[in-house]
Amino acid sequence: MSSKILRIAALAGDGIGPEVMHEAIKVLRTVEKKFHFAFEISEAPVGWAGIDAVGKALPDATLALCKRSDAILFGSVGLPGRDPTIPKEERPERAALLRLRREFGLFANLRPVTLPKALAHACPLAKDRQGDGIDILVVRELTGGVYFGEPKKTEKIPGGHRAIDTMVYTTQEIERIAHVAFQAARSRRKKLTSADKANVLENGVLWRDVVTQVGKHYPEVTLEHMFVDNAAMQLVLRPTQFDVLLCENMFGDILSDEAAALGGSLGLLPSASLGTATNGNTFGFYEPAGGTAPDIAGKNLANPIAQILSAALMLRHSFGLNDAAMAIEKAVARTIDAGCRTGDIFNPNEPGVHQVGTREMGEAIAAEI
Ligand code: IPM
Ligand code: MG
Repeated sequence: MSSKILRIAALAGDGIGPEVMHEAIKVLRTVEKKFHFAFEISEAPVGWAGIDAVGKALPDATLALCKRSDAILFGSVGLPGRDPTIPKEERPERAALLRLRREFGLFANLRPVTLPKALAHACPLAKDRQGDGIDILVVRELTGGVYFGEPKKTEKIPGGHRAIDTMVYTTQEIERIAHVAFQAARSRRKKLTSADKANVLENGVLWRDVVTQVGKHYPEVTLEHMFVDNAAMQLVLRPTQFDVLLCENMFGDILSDEAAALGGSLGLLPSASLGTATNGNTFGFYEPAGGTAPDIAGKNLANPIAQILSAALMLRHSFGLNDAAMAIEKAVARTIDAGCRTGDIFNPNEPGVHQVGTREMGEAIAAEI
């Protein structure tokens, strides 16, 4: 497309973040050359890396960089074992990740789970439950619900404490995420399953009503409501019934990890967190769903594919570069087909495959672009 400079804030974070980010940047640089784009990729610390550098999980300079960027490519943050004296409000999960979601109004979280045919063995479900393949898009509301509702506190009471979290949703918050989910379903297999707890929660009743109302604008999409406990069960019993799965924040947190396991490995799952489009541009935050994986960090063992596919989502959703996004996705598919496997997706009984490290996987994908 144009020679416009696309500004990317690359925040690698902790654990395996730096290693997988390195490979994603390698792939982006390859795409940049091939398609004649101009990327300005600026790296900055976040998470424990931010605390180590300047004493804050989200350093002011990092936030300022994000604000002058067109998109954030994020690694992962949070090392549960580190420094328990740092209060929870200042730890990376809340002070960096949740803060960024809130700060940029990233209410729509898209987590596409697909099980590549070549990796059927990595899926924990029996073959006959995998049908013709698993292909689910989890659409998770990301800035509301019990994660952010007030009051949120722990107070002393006689004999101990009382912890309070508040689940709260407005009609408008449900409407805007429902539109995102219906639009996604319209461009896929035209089925939307909305998970809620309408049999117990006030929030669930409102959620179901509002999603039903929004659905009237999308007559071509089949809408189904499912209680969230049943949805958790159906995901393992008959995952092929799902196309788009819409959830509020916490239910989406839980179900997206469950769905991710069906895709063979958390190391394969990218995600996009989007805000409202302004002047046709959608600011977005792109991160692998897998987390910091401290046990394998720094050992050239992590699978960089989720980070690389997150970069592809960034090209598509924030920059409108669908061809380049597809070039990355196809390169990943070809690399898997060619038998390249990081440890998480390696099965020694599979013929024609070889185990590689993080760097070799990144290089192989870049070479396929
Ligand atoms: C996720 C993560 C985060 C969440 C944590 C790290 C705060 O689990 O993105 O799914 O709960 O949203
Ligand atoms: Mg989670």
